[in-house]
This record gives sequence, C-alpha cells and structure tokens, in this order.
Amino acid sequence: MTRRVLWSTVGACVVLVLVAAALVAWYRQAQRQAAAAEAARLEAEAAAAREALYRQFGIDAPGTRLFVPLPPELPYHQGRAKLGRALFNDRRLTRSQISQGLVCGACHHLGAGGTDSKVHHGVLTRSVYNAAFATSYLHDGSLPDLHAAVGKMIEDPHFCWGGPLAGVAARLAQDANLAKRFQVVYTDGLTGTNVVDAVVEYLKTLVTDGTPYDFWCAGHVDRLTAEQRRGSEVYLAAGCMDCHDGPVLGSRKVVRGRKVPALRGLGLRKAYLTEGKVKDLDAVVPMMPGGDLSPEDRKALVAFLKAL
Ligand code: HEC
Ligand code: HEC
Repeated sequence: MTRRVLWSTVGACVVLVLVAAALVAWYRQAQRQAAAAEAARLEAEAAAAREALYRQFGIDAPGTRLFVPLPPELPYHQGRAKLGRALFNDRRLTRSQISQGLVCGACHHLGAGGTDSKVHHGVLTRSVYNAAFATSYLHDGSLPDLHAAVGKMIEDPHFCWGGPLAGVAARLAQDANLAKRFQVVYTDGLTGTNVVDAVVEYLKTLVTDGTPYDFWCAGHVDRLTAEQRRGSEVYLAAGCMDCHDGPVLGSRKVVRGRKVPALRGLGLRKAYLTEGKVKDLDAVVPMMPGGDLSPEDRKALVAFLKAL
C-alpha cells in the first residue's frame, strides 16, 4: 500500500467521522427543538385549561394566583345526593358475599382521606374526595368523566363486583320504597344510569374545603406555619405546579401514562403512588421531577404537603 493510499483512507475516515458527528449534533438539536415546541404547546394548553377552570369557579386574575382555595360547595342535587349517600354503603350494589361486602365505603374510608390506602388488584385506592374536580379518572386517566368511573366501580369484579348496571338496578328495584324515592328525583325512576348519577351527585359533596391551606389561600396567612409557607415557595420553585396544579393540585393531567393525582387531602393518606408501595411522604418527594432538594427544603415542602 502506498503512503498516498494510506493517507487518503485516513482522510476519508476523518471526513466520515466529522460528517457523522455533525449529523448526530444536528439530530440532537432537532430533537431538543421538537421537545421545546411540545413543552410550549402543553404549557399553552394547560394555561388555557387552567383559565377555563378558574373562570368556571369564579376565581379572578388567572395566572396571578397559583394557589387557589376550593369553592366551598359544588352545585349538586340534594335529593339525588341523599340517595347516592345511602348507595355508597348499600350491599345490594355488590354480588360479593364476603362479610363486609364490597361497598364503596369498604375501600373508600371517608374518615381516612377517602381511601383505605390499600392496593386492590395491583392498584392503590384513590381518594373519593374532590373527585368531581378531576378531568380524568383511574390511575392511567383512561376514563373521561365521573359517571364512567362510578359505573366501572359498580360493575367491575375488581371493585364492587355488581355486574351489569341493569341487573344492579333490577336488584335494587325489588325494594319498592327505594324505587319510589328514585321516582321522586328522576323522571325515569330507578335505572342503572340513575343509580350511577345519584352516586355522582353524592361525590360532589365530598370536598376537602376548610383545610389550613384553604384559609391560607383565602388570605389568612398565619393558618400555615412559617415552615409550611416556605414549603409553598419550594413547591413553586421546584416546579411541582407544572403537573400538580388547579384547585385540587392535580387530577388534571396524565403524564407518561399516569394520572397526576390531586395532592389535596394528602396528609390523611397512608400510601402513595399507583402501586401503593411507598408509605412515607418524605420518600415520594425525591422520586418526583424537581424533587431533588436539600434536606431542609424537602422538610419544609413535606410540612406544606401535609397541610393540603
Ligand atoms: C375493592 C375496593 C373498591 C371498591 C369496592 C370501590 N372502589 Fe373506587 N377505587 C378503588 C381503587 C383501587 C381505585 C383506583 C383505580 C385506578 O386507579 O385504576 C378506585 C378509584 C375510584 C375513583 C376514581 C378516583 C380518581 O381520582 O381517579 C372513584 C371516583 C371511585 N373509586 C369511586 C367509587 C365508588 C363510588 C364506589 C362504589 C360504587 C367504589 N369506588 C368502590 C377501590 C374500590
Ligand atoms: C412531570 C409531572 C410531575 C411533576 C413536575 C411532579 N409530579 Fe408528583 N406526580 C406526578 C405523577 C404522574 C404522579 C403519580 C405517579 C403514580 O401514580 O405512580 C405523581 C405523584 C405524586 C405524589 C403521590 C400522591 C399520591 O396520592 O399517590 C406526591 C406526594 C407528589 N407527586 C408530589 C410532588 C411534588 C412535591 C412535586 C414537586 C417537587 C411533584 N410531585 C412534581 C407527576 C408530577
């Protein structure tokens, strides 16, 4: 091999390597630009959704007040909600014969943040408090509305195990008194759809207003301790609001196949994340995007989270 051939081969290799490096750099740059554009699009979408929500709840100056109190009450139908409250613990909703029965209240403990903090068929029970504020339901956000979620809870063998709604309604209709009560508040009386609707009306009454956080949001500064107030600043600085936003601090987005859970009422729950394996709030924070904090910041943030 002559020296000339050798050098031209080396030269060609160098050129190839340079071209490859340029291509990789160009590709990375294009990827970064696409990611930035996607982030901007999502941000604009989120801002629009946030504004719509705030308008819906009569909260003014969207964007200037990131922490907003819950409205004390969502509009709901009293008569229907009353029926729904009774159905929440009605064993006729389930086909299960186990002693406590798979009623809603068996898994959604109202005195413990709306959840038993247990895992059923691989998924942690989510709170029923503030459910009416969510824009999607279940751990993957796969159901678009509360009626669909409650319908699934009643029918599905993993939850109440009630079987098809029509059958549930037929079981309940054997109770003439109950059928009459349905006729008072629904023109078409006791149907599967109306059973679901009554439960939904009841869920609208399960709102966690009146927490220290609500008072603080409404301007009563000293309802949070100095450490908790500092925690609220850490929350903003760490970007938690990017996903956990709106009146219930979550329940409005799905990120990488996981619904962003609402953080309101967090202090009462005893297990976290979809698999329910993490039992310590302190351990959840470092697992979150932006959660890589100094020990002091993390402590303040957790104190704040417990006030929600
Ligand atoms: C066997 C326990 C069990 C029973 C019984 C049960 N649930 Fe659930 N519930 C769960 C679990 C577990 C989840 C979480 C499911 C998921 O994320 O995919 C859940 C989720 C929900 C959600 C969605 C919450 C959210 O933010 O996504 C609502 C609403 C709900 N249940 C209401 C009810 C109602 C109403 C009843 C009675 C008709 C009921 N549940 C019965 C365990 C139960
Ligand atoms: C990119 C979106 C995103 C950001 C930013 C984010 N989270 Fe989360 N967070 C999620 C998702 C998604 C889940 C649910 C994961 C799951 O269920 O497995 C979650 C779950 C949680 C939970 C568990 C709640 C429960 O009831 O199970 C806590 C607590 C939490 N986040 C706090 C924070 C804090 C504090 C910050 C800021 C340091 C933060 N998150 C930032 C998306 C986010």
